[in-house]
Amino acid sequence: MADRQTLCTIRHGCLAIQGNTVEGVYKEKEFQKLTIHSDKDTVTDYGDCLIIPGMTDLHLHAPQYAFRGLGMDCELLDWLEKHAFQEEKKYSDLEYAGRAYRMFLNDLQKSPTTRACLFGTVHKESSLLLAKLLDSAGYPAYVGKVNMDKNSPDGLQEQSAEISVNDTRWFIEKVQSECHLVKPILTPRFVPSCSNLLLEELGELCQEYALPVQSHLSENPKETQLVRKLFPNSHFYGDIYHHFGLFGSHSPAVMAHCVYSGEEELAKIKENGVFIAHCPNSNTSLASGIAPIQKYWDYGLSIGLGTDIAGGFSLSMFRAIQDAVSVSKLYWRLVDSSLPPLTFSQAFYMATAGGGAFFPKTGTFLPGYEADVVVLDDSGLPCPFPLSPEERLERLCFLADSDVVAAKYIQGRLVYARPL
Ligand code: GUN
Ligand code: FE
Repeated sequence: MADRQTLCTIRHGCLAIQGNTVEGVYKEKEFQKLTIHSDKDTVTDYGDCLIIPGMTDLHLHAPQYAFRGLGMDCELLDWLEKHAFQEEKKYSDLEYAGRAYRMFLNDLQKSPTTRACLFGTVHKESSLLLAKLLDSAGYPAYVGKVNMDKNSPDGLQEQSAEISVNDTRWFIEKVQSECHLVKPILTPRFVPSCSNLLLEELGELCQEYALPVQSHLSENPKETQLVRKLFPNSHFYGDIYHHFGLFGSHSPAVMAHCVYSGEEELAKIKENGVFIAHCPNSNTSLASGIAPIQKYWDYGLSIGLGTDIAGGFSLSMFRAIQDAVSVSKLYWRLVDSSLPPLTFSQAFYMATAGGGAFFPKTGTFLPGYEADVVVLDDSGLPCPFPLSPEERLERLCFLADSDVVAAKYIQGRLVYARPL
């Protein structure tokens, strides 16, 4: 993308990668003239495939992958009680966690996702296992051990803020010493499940280790009502995270949803450079609502897309693009006719450069960006009339299932090639 509005494509182009990073994108003839080929250079010809920057899933819960597609008749708070918390309890068992996380990773491999911000569970060992599995598979992901010491069921709620913080410290140090690519991220689940003491101490950890933060924000009407009841003196939901130093003032923060963010919250999001993870599949599935993303875009906020597995049922970032466009049309038609629907280019931008900026230099093929690359094969989607590269990409993102991913590179390294 040249800028946030313009999708640039090159027909018969060459992407040059040096080490981990993009050196440049050339037309084939230019490339042949420009390069001084050495013995060490390798050229891979992907024929008629489309080559795009990798996609960032800015918000998902890996332990919820196992029950995706179930419980889709619930709203958020009921769904958490009946489904999410019940499944997450199982991750105290490392053997179960290993089996479930391997299934998740197997499917992630085939997807166009190259970067992700993942929630684990409260369990430090199984969250470390998730981090190590991703690390071994070549993903420079952020993984968080979840913090929750309040309003949570027996068998999942942490016994005290102190235990939660000590376990988080253990997790951070293990990930930092044992993973090469994966990094830890602080993960207070959301305001209702964290005591004030826990939030305060996480704010201190955030500064001590200079760690980014991920959480949920202004997702659903019953949830926002509950937060208002718990913190009647706060100006807005995000103000609570801000008060405890967990809202981008010390280090990057990403907040999922922001469906019900008011003007004050949006101003603070902008001031602090907080990223919004827009999760349209989840917002529909849990009847949360529609985030007015065009308004946030016009306001200049940093926005990426998230699948929010398993509030969202699909791990596909193609599906996240489709849903972002679809729900924006409903918002325009049913809620606010002054906010035009998102274009495909906008949604594609959010899935690549928008979310990629959290990492912080991935999601485009501009020189110096980390070389996260996805090779897409649309030969299984024939069309009787000629299509431009832009049209092929748009059509593929709307029609594709995961087997269109022919190959995937992260930081210049091949991490997946579709079996022949
Ligand atoms: N809010 C707190 N926990 C969760 C979760 O697991 N999923 C979603 N969508 N929202 C949450
Ligand atoms: Fe979530």
